[in-house]
Amino acid sequence: MDRLPARTAHGYVVVSTVANATITAVDTRVATGTPGVLGVYTPFNPLPILPQGAMGPAWAPLRDKEVAFHGQPVGFVVAESFELAREAAGTIRFDYAERTPAHSLEDNLSRAQAPRSVSGEPAVVTILADGVPTIDRALESSEVTVSATYRTAAQNHAAMEPHSAVAVWENDRMTVHSSTQGPSFLAGDIAAALGLQASQVRAVSPYIGGAFGGKFYTYAQTRLAAAAARELGRPVKVALTREQVFTATAGRPETRQTVALGARRDGTLTAVKHHSWSSASPGSTTVEAAAHTTSRRWYASPNIEVGAKYVPLNVPEATIMRAPGEAPGSFALESAMDELAVKLGMDPVELRVRNHADTEPGSGRPWSSKHLLECYRTGAERFGWNGRDRTPGGTADGDWYVGTGMATASFPAYRFQATMKVRFRADGTADVSGSTVDLGTGMWTVLSVVGAQALGIPVQRIRPDLGDSRLSAAGFVGGSSGTSTVSGAILVAAENAKKALIDLAVRDARSPFQGMDPGQVRYENGRLTASGRGEDFGALLAAVGRDGVEAEGSSGPGAETQNYAFASFGAQFCEVRVNRWTSQIRVSRLLSVMDAGTVVNPKTARSQILGGMVWGVSAALHEGLRADGAGRWGNGSLADYLIPVNADIPEVEVHFLDHPDTLHNPLGARGVGEIGTVGTAAAVANAVHHATGRRIRELPITLDKLL
Ligand code: MOS
Repeated sequence: MDRLPARTAHGYVVVSTVANATITAVDTRVATGTPGVLGVYTPFNPLPILPQGAMGPAWAPLRDKEVAFHGQPVGFVVAESFELAREAAGTIRFDYAERTPAHSLEDNLSRAQAPRSVSGEPAVVTILADGVPTIDRALESSEVTVSATYRTAAQNHAAMEPHSAVAVWENDRMTVHSSTQGPSFLAGDIAAALGLQASQVRAVSPYIGGAFGGKFYTYAQTRLAAAAARELGRPVKVALTREQVFTATAGRPETRQTVALGARRDGTLTAVKHHSWSSASPGSTTVEAAAHTTSRRWYASPNIEVGAKYVPLNVPEATIMRAPGEAPGSFALESAMDELAVKLGMDPVELRVRNHADTEPGSGRPWSSKHLLECYRTGAERFGWNGRDRTPGGTADGDWYVGTGMATASFPAYRFQATMKVRFRADGTADVSGSTVDLGTGMWTVLSVVGAQALGIPVQRIRPDLGDSRLSAAGFVGGSSGTSTVSGAILVAAENAKKALIDLAVRDARSPFQGMDPGQVRYENGRLTASGRGEDFGALLAAVGRDGVEAEGSSGPGAETQNYAFASFGAQFCEVRVNRWTSQIRVSRLLSVMDAGTVVNPKTARSQILGGMVWGVSAALHEGLRADGAGRWGNGSLADYLIPVNADIPEVEVHFLDHPDTLHNPLGARGVGEIGTVGTAAAVANAVHHATGRRIRELPITLDKLL
């Protein structure tokens, strides 16, 4: 957030110091009396912000006196400098009527509620074979069963760049510079919150500084900055502190999951029951859909039941976080599959091969493209899995027990409607633009690479542009959909731009193609040709005296989504070493084989999978928020929140199968942003079991759990 317009004022968000209370009084006298302080806002003197957003009702900061969690935004100070705003904020005194906070998921299960729906499906989905009355009866009549409870910790996005905003109000127009996964959503949120027309608000976000769901929604600081900028007639800049990021934005909720598997002795699944409970802040109905994909994308079974509930706790808001649902869900399901393999005395890969879902469970739709069996086979070969001694605790290397584990990965392949623009320019370059963003995942490069392919010119001649709500409406980036969403639109825009170029070429008197039938003129590799004549597009535009010619193109999912199921798949393999004396756990090898369609850019695609796997190791061994007795995160800041460093991550091998999925989009590419994290934590936990014989069903697996 390096933009500082002239006369910028600085905002500081004030957060609650209790977790469950009503604010009864606020004393702001010292703050308001401090020279250089421009505005002090609290629930007793709020900024005009409507509880509305682009997608419907939204939380309007400072509009109510109820405190639902520790670190909730309850005030805002604007001053001539950041230091002054922070100092004045520290002088505000809040009187709270406190209540005992609830923060333990386990102790509050009796308060669990079912959400109205989970990603469009009922809160409980039951698939039963003819004549089977309940999932429990299917389990009871299974030859072999395993049943256990798994837990995953609450996590928070800890991006390199904290959430921030610079808001400028000028001539009845609002410009907001703020890192976001969807500039047009952010513009819509601010317009709704301030009661403005959508056309009055522009959101600019060329660089994000890290986001995997954490910058999808608009948080308090942006609404406060925008409202204050309008109120004060000054640009307002605000950045959350590292601690505030952990409470004033949102994270992945804690989960408790029960998994029961029934199988025949040959390993064939006969019943799968997976239920999930996740923490939610008061008033929110958001669930982590950890179990729901078990009925869709994982294994074939005649009987499946999945369910989701949320448990209201005095904890910060829950949101999407890299592989929401699948990341914690795969830990439970893939640990349970490992437990079943152990009980059956069967190789874990073989168990998964035996239960491969040839069509989408539940619907029976064919997959657009699925090569999971090849992932298992290739992964097992590359990892040296075959011939593994299955005995837990059977292998040691000096003071270290060595174990290996594996898991399946899967993640849905989404694609959304988007419009992009291609503009040929007289200098021989071409713009490829749209209001998409680059989370750090490589979207700038995708625009260049796909644009270059579509126009048949070198990438150096493509000028990508993104991250501005004023550009063509390209939607948002999330759900691993970015590349497949924009690439289809780029291809259409490129074809439309070629048509516009040819149209101009046959119409303009100064063009060598003037008067020809447009059908005769061909565009190839940046050049128009017809009847022995040829001209580069740059030279042609220069000749006819035009800066450029452009066209938009739109593309989105069609009827194929009714007829096919779309998902990426993979296999994760892991080796760990566990110290015999200290129980220290080191991941020593990681390998994944991914079936994600066409790989558009091998370097950035590998980085995505690798980064996802690092998140999986982090979930398995490091990451987790803990509330203290007062309901405050005890480790809620980048300094205290444990995530892996380079020394925690071994050489990681990522292998792509590269089978194009052209039913998904013309490029055949499926998303790679999230699937790398799916299954990784289970592969680590399964390897820990193999190394030690200890089954740890609660993440993170800290060494005390092995002592
Ligand atoms: Mo992703 S969790 O959809 O940014």
